[in-house]
Amino acid sequence: MAHLVAIAGSLRQGSHNASLARAAAELSPPGTDVEVLSIRGIPLYDADVEAAEGIPEPVQRLKAQIKAAHALLFVTPEYNRSIPGVLKNAIDHASRPHGQSAWAGKPAGVLGASVSAIGTSMAQQHLRNILAYLDMPTMGQPEAFIQAKAGLFDANGNVGPDSKKFLQSWMDRYVAWVKWHAA
Ligand code: FNR
Repeated sequence: MAHLVAIAGSLRQGSHNASLARAAAELSPPGTDVEVLSIRGIPLYDADVEAAEGIPEPVQRLKAQIKAAHALLFVTPEYNRSIPGVLKNAIDHASRPHGQSAWAGKPAGVLGASVSAIGTSMAQQHLRNILAYLDMPTMGQPEAFIQAKAGLFDANGNVGPDSKKFLQSWMDRYVAWVKWHAA
């Protein structure tokens, strides 16, 4: 059984990326489970707090969830041509203390949705730089830049038929890549 953890880089109640993370989890192939994590409640990283009080409890929980995963799935919005600060903050936190990063060696996949036609391509590229530094092998192809148009999701948060087909094939490829990587 492959255990994946998905992290959406948006705190918004109606987040397209959180919906996409849940939809990807629903479409995970047999023998795979995907836990969708929330980064709500992760405090802003502050080295003084780390030095005085250690790792905050929500971050300890996040790090344990990452460590228990065979692979990660990042589902990121694009803010001003990069990833949202809340996602970078969560990534930074789980990389600390120095030498005790939860991310090291974990395979990763990157998805993203935005309202723009080139939605999230620049954010995903920035994210790939960060993941490379964190020593996380990241699937290169197929890329997934999903435009959040009307009809992408229905009222229940399920993806429409065209996007479902794409997301299903992306998930199949990603899980196969994770297994190949683990072998
Ligand atoms: C955006 N948005 C945006 N979209 C994009 O494609 N490229 C961009 O650079 C930006 N920049 C940007 C900055 C800020 C501060 C906000 C709040 C928004 C639009 C963004 O993609 C859209 O709001 C998505 O719906 C956000 O993702 P969630 O919250 O729906 O997951």
